[in-house]
Amino acid sequence: MRDLMPDMPNRLEISGLAIERKGRVLLDVPRLSLDGPGPTLILGPNGAGKSLLLRCLHGLIQADRGRVLQDGLDLTADHKARQAMVFQQPVLLRRSVAANLDFVLKRKRLGRSARKARIADLLAEGGLDGKARQSARSLSGGEAQRLAILRALALDPETLFLDEPTSALDPSATQAIEAMILRASDRGVRIVMVTHDVGQARRLAADIVMMQGGRVVEHGAARQVLEAPKCQASRQYLAGWLVT
Ligand SMILES: Nc1ncnc2c1ncn2[C@@H]1O[C@H](COP(=O)(O)OP(=O)(O)OP(=O)(O)O)[C@@H](O)[C@H]1O
Ligand SMILES: [Mg+2]
Repeated sequence: MRDLMPDMPNRLEISGLAIERKGRVLLDVPRLSLDGPGPTLILGPNGAGKSLLLRCLHGLIQADRGRVLQDGLDLTADHKARQAMVFQQPVLLRRSVAANLDFVLKRKRLGRSARKARIADLLAEGGLDGKARQSARSLSGGEAQRLAILRALALDPETLFLDEPTSALDPSATQAIEAMILRASDRGVRIVMVTHDVGQARRLAADIVMMQGGRVVEHGAARQVLEAPKCQASRQYLAGWLVT
């Protein structure tokens, strides 16, 4: 895992990013700069473009126009290899819990004993000790999502993108995942996460990106956005009025 190195740049920028489909603007973000170091939370109503933005930042989809820059350079395969993403529904292999982690670690060309030690550390980190041999498909929703996050962390990412990782989970499973995310952040992993949960944004965010209608309507320090939103759309969303 990347050690906490505040001087090491990890700046994600967007310049002139746009996606249109059938004449409809899905994403229109002229400029956005995520400098970290704390977790960035992306909020906004259904269809606001949050997942599209996250996928663009991770290079999963190519926008019609504009650029995504990592530390001033266009996103390369090398950058992408230092990013990882976790989705709302965990995507796991039909294998044991340990084999799901081993699959990722093999790509890092670690030897057998190093992989075994790393798997033990990861299982402890996710509170999944004792589940190594269990089929990943038989895990509870919260356990499966914890495993998905561990698999992403096994890549030693500089940046971890999470798209509503707790939206299907109960409060205690959510709490366990939030603790994992905060620990990763404290170790220096840049977190960029989508949520619908304002309480979660309050608990985790250093900065908040508010989206509506494919646009970033506000980006600022979490406290400022939550307590004194500058934009009416932010105020309405936070007050629970803006649902779509
Ligand atoms: N491939 C596509 N083709 C056409 N429209 C798309 C495509 N992908 C996304 N959209 C549309 O773009 C808009 C933004 O989608 P996106 O998934 O980013 O929303 P979101 O903010 O993540 O919403 P939710 O909170 O429901 O997850 C939606 O109206 C969606 O239907
Ligand atoms: Mg989404």
